[in-house]
Amino acid sequence: MSEAMIPADLPLRNDLIGEVPYGAPQLDVPVCLNVNENPYPPDHAVVRSIVEHVKQVAPTLNRYPDREHIELREAFVRYLKEESGAQLTVEQVWGANGSNEIMLQLFQAFGGPGRAALGCDPAYSMYPEYARDTFTSWYTTHRKPDFTLDVDHTIDDIDAIQPAMVVLTSPNNPTGTELPMTDLKRILEHCQSAQVAGAHDGVHPIVVVDEAYIEFRNPGTPSATTLINDYDNLAVSRTMSKAFAFAGARVGYLAASEGIVDCLRIVRMPYHLSAVTQAVALAAFDHRKEQLSQVDHLREIREQTAAWLKEQTYKGQPLEVAPSQSNFLLFGGHFDDRGAIFDQMLQRGVLIRVVGPEGWLRVCMGTDEEMRRFREALVESMRAVENA
Ligand SMILES: Cc1ncc(COP(=O)(O)O)c(C=O)c1O
Repeated sequence: MSEAMIPADLPLRNDLIGEVPYGAPQLDVPVCLNVNENPYPPDHAVVRSIVEHVKQVAPTLNRYPDREHIELREAFVRYLKEESGAQLTVEQVWGANGSNEIMLQLFQAFGGPGRAALGCDPAYSMYPEYARDTFTSWYTTHRKPDFTLDVDHTIDDIDAIQPAMVVLTSPNNPTGTELPMTDLKRILEHCQSAQVAGAHDGVHPIVVVDEAYIEFRNPGTPSATTLINDYDNLAVSRTMSKAFAFAGARVGYLAASEGIVDCLRIVRMPYHLSAVTQAVALAAFDHRKEQLSQVDHLREIREQTAAWLKEQTYKGQPLEVAPSQSNFLLFGGHFDDRGAIFDQMLQRGVLIRVVGPEGWLRVCMGTDEEMRRFREALVESMRAVENA
């Protein structure tokens, strides 16, 4: 598909003129390590269960689906209790087509003209797009050189910018950095009395924690979902796309106070979550053990790959690796032409991602064989660029 061919006589919004569709390249290459998916497909039992669930809803497809998707929300509640120890009710969870849609709904409900949202740099590249699409002003606060959050600076920025939403990511994409609970609590507590530009007095910002990769965290690390009953201003976005190995089904979900969920119910499209989506997500939750069975292994691969990367050199200097609690690693730190290394890797059939600060590249953890090919291609690619 070409990028975007917009005829000049179409009344595209002025602020969208010159914009291009967002998305990592979808290339047909042997080793795809660029979009942080789980490389292991659903096993036969899960596939059979998915087919069975779809068979059951197929005869009812003349009717609209349950727009409150109650059965699925019950599954989110059970899963969050099991996975994170969070004690939530159906009213405190909400589903959508990927966490992309959850995030967009948050921006639709809390952003808008005259409103601002504050994120951190670097972070997931879609945040500024949700802001653009909802006419929300987007600001970023810097991270420390080790990519951890600079909490004092973030709090100063909250006071200066008066955002309606503070968007934090844990583990962060593209760095893999965890947000410690003590830092999150400081921000939540500060936001309980902070001002929101463009809102009435007494209105305070919400804090969104994007936990798309949370299942890959180190054992013992808590999830922000465990704070929801203590902080009405906290919204935690989750997804089945990553650890859960279900990116193709497009299911994301939110855990938050009932009030925040009710705000999302105002902006959602009617029947936004199809009966087929709800059915396949329920099938996947029935088989959550199988779906999550490779997470420990992927965590081990991450640690092995990080150790291996640190032993490699580029132009005489060892590679840097950002400590990651996710299924990807940001590495390099001093690539003077990261695009050239990316191209060399691609020529060898390995697709990684040019993202994050200059000098760094990101690789997602694949199968053992994919990682072997990644290592081989990276060594060859760095030598090719050094000798060019
Ligand atoms: C930090 C983060 N949040 C959200 C998403 C969106 O995931 P999905 O819409 O598939 O749930 C991604 C995807 O890469 C991500 O990296």
